[in-house]
Parts: sequence; C-alpha cells; structure tokens
Amino acid sequence: MSTKSQILEIFNDRTAEYISGQELADILGLSRNSVWKAIKKLQDEGFTIESKPSTGYRLIQKGDVLSADYIKENVGLPCKVQILDKVDSTNNYAKRIENLSVPHIVIAKEQTHGRGRLGRSFYSPVSKGLYMTIAFEPEFGLDKSMLITTVAALAVCQAIESVVGIGPKIKWVNDIYLQGKKICGILTEAETNFETGNISRIIVGIGINCFEQIFPEEIESKATYLKDAKKDFTRNDLAAAVVNKFFGLIENFDKRTILREYKSRSMILGEQILLYGASYSQMPENGGRGVKARAIDIDENGGLVVEYMEGRRSREMDVITSGEVTVRKDI
Ligand code: BTN
Repeated sequence: MSTKSQILEIFNDRTAEYISGQELADILGLSRNSVWKAIKKLQDEGFTIESKPSTGYRLIQKGDVLSADYIKENVGLPCKVQILDKVDSTNNYAKRIENLSVPHIVIAKEQTHGRGRLGRSFYSPVSKGLYMTIAFEPEFGLDKSMLITTVAALAVCQAIESVVGIGPKIKWVNDIYLQGKKICGILTEAETNFETGNISRIIVGIGINCFEQIFPEEIESKATYLKDAKKDFTRNDLAAAVVNKFFGLIENFDKRTILREYKSRSMILGEQILLYGASYSQMPENGGRGVKARAIDIDENGGLVVEYMEGRRSREMDVITSGEVTVRKDI
C-alpha cells in the first residue's frame, strides 16, 4: 500500500485528531520528509488536510474524496481505476474504452445523463453517490454471463453490509432497497462478438445513493440513501468492496451459493407483485396498472418464477427473464 493510502487510513481511524509528522513517520517507518510529500500529494488530490505548526496534521473532511490510487490498491486484482469529474454516463464512457486487457473501473463524481434500465434516467448529483462502471472482457461462457446481473446485485448488497453495516434487500432483478426505498440501481450491458456469438465485453453500471440529498419530486417518495449507516464509510472503501465482491463471486463461481445468497436478500419472494412491461401492461409511470402475480422463486438462470393471479393465465406459472419487465410489490 502506498504511503498516501496508509496515511489516509490512519486519518480515517483518527478523524478530527491532530497527528504529528513525527508520529506518522514512526508508524510508517519513513522520514518526516516522505510523510510531508505524501500529505502534499493528498492535498493536491483534494483531501482537506490541515497542518498546524508544532502540532501536526488533521483530516478535516472525512476521507470521502474519491481516490483512484486508494481504490486500486484496495482491489485485489490488476485493474485500471479512473475518476472523472463529470461525464454523461460512466457506462457510455466505459463503452468507448479501447483496451480492456484488465478490468476498468470508471467512477464519476457527477453524471449529467445517468442511465437506468428501460430507458429511464438515474439521478446522479455531484458527490452524493457512487456512480461506477465495471467494464471487462469475460473469460467465461454463457452460463456465468446469464447470472452477471444477479451476481452484481449480490455483490453490492454484500459490500454495503460489510462497509456500511446495514442490510439492504434486492428487488428482482437488480434494484437494491433499504427501508422500502431504492438506494441503488444496476444497469448491465454487453457487447457481443458477431462472428463467434460470444459476449466480448460486459459493462456493469452501478449507482448507489450514498449521502443525504434532495431527490427530484418524481422519485422523492421512492428513493433514499445509505441512511442509518452503522459504520463511518467512504465511497472509496465501498467501491473497492463492490469490485472485490463482484470478481470474488465470479472467480469462485458457485451457482447454488450465489442463488441462495441472492434469494435470502430478496424483498419480493413469496409476495404478491405487479408486473409491467411490453407483454403485460404499460409502465407504472404511464398509468399501467400491472398484472398481479405471486413471486415464487428465482430459477437457476436468475429468472423470476411467478404464478399469475389474474387474467386468462390465472394460476399459470411462468419464468420471467426479460429485462423489459419491471416489478412492483402489490401493497
Ligand atoms: C436503474 O436504476 O434502472 C439502473 C441505474 C444504473 C445507474 C448507474 S450509475 C453508473 C452507471 N452509469 C449509468 O449511466 N448508469 C449506471
């Protein structure tokens, strides 16, 4: 770990406390000059570190400045991390990356046209959330690719559990909820090689509302942030944890465990739900009333097994795999 990251860790453990250059040098086994240089670099990156003559240094703003170096060092695999000040969409940006020989993690402080599923937008105000895309070339077949979205949702939940200390729920297919409101959306996109028919690139876009914010009126009653956090977290730690959990689940791919863990966090299994989409009824925002069903199970490909509760298919079972469908709890 670099000196910068080590210093940040010490500051994050002892926020608001002055730590002398000598103490930092002793802890890290470095000269005071090396400590000074590292602190200067951190200040240049945007960390507000105050220095008081003959007292020491103090991190004023808890280390929530996004740091590509810190994330890279805390991700347990070779990757490239990029932090952008402002971009239309990190997914759009990631799609333009030419060389993906190692996975790329693209994070933006702000998105002007954050994209959601089904052509929706994703509200991405500056520094209030983690807007991140993981782009990589898969070295696996269709079996794993089918479950990428499931794996991403599970990885986000596990990362939030360990870094923030709270337990979110998953609404199929990959919206993450807290206290009945959405805190995270995931938009998975793929590029296929026409000649082989294989998936050549996977682009997983993850948007997590991290901090308190004023949501636009249309989502105000449905969205929330990582409130009641049990741990003092930073987006850097959260980003690294999501990436580690995601690739960890892919590397030790164990379908049964993934599905069991995913299902145990589901907020709709066993519940009465409403289905919206091309083959059901209009989207809720367009006044569609949805088709009543019961969510029975998640099948081995991540599809939602439902039993219809009305209409001509009443009592019939079905598996929904289409990304064109959206689900609401029928309450
Ligand atoms: C959804 O809620 O339907 C999915 C939202 C996905 C949002 C993330 S933010 C980072 C990445 N870039 C985007 O434009 N979208 C995803």
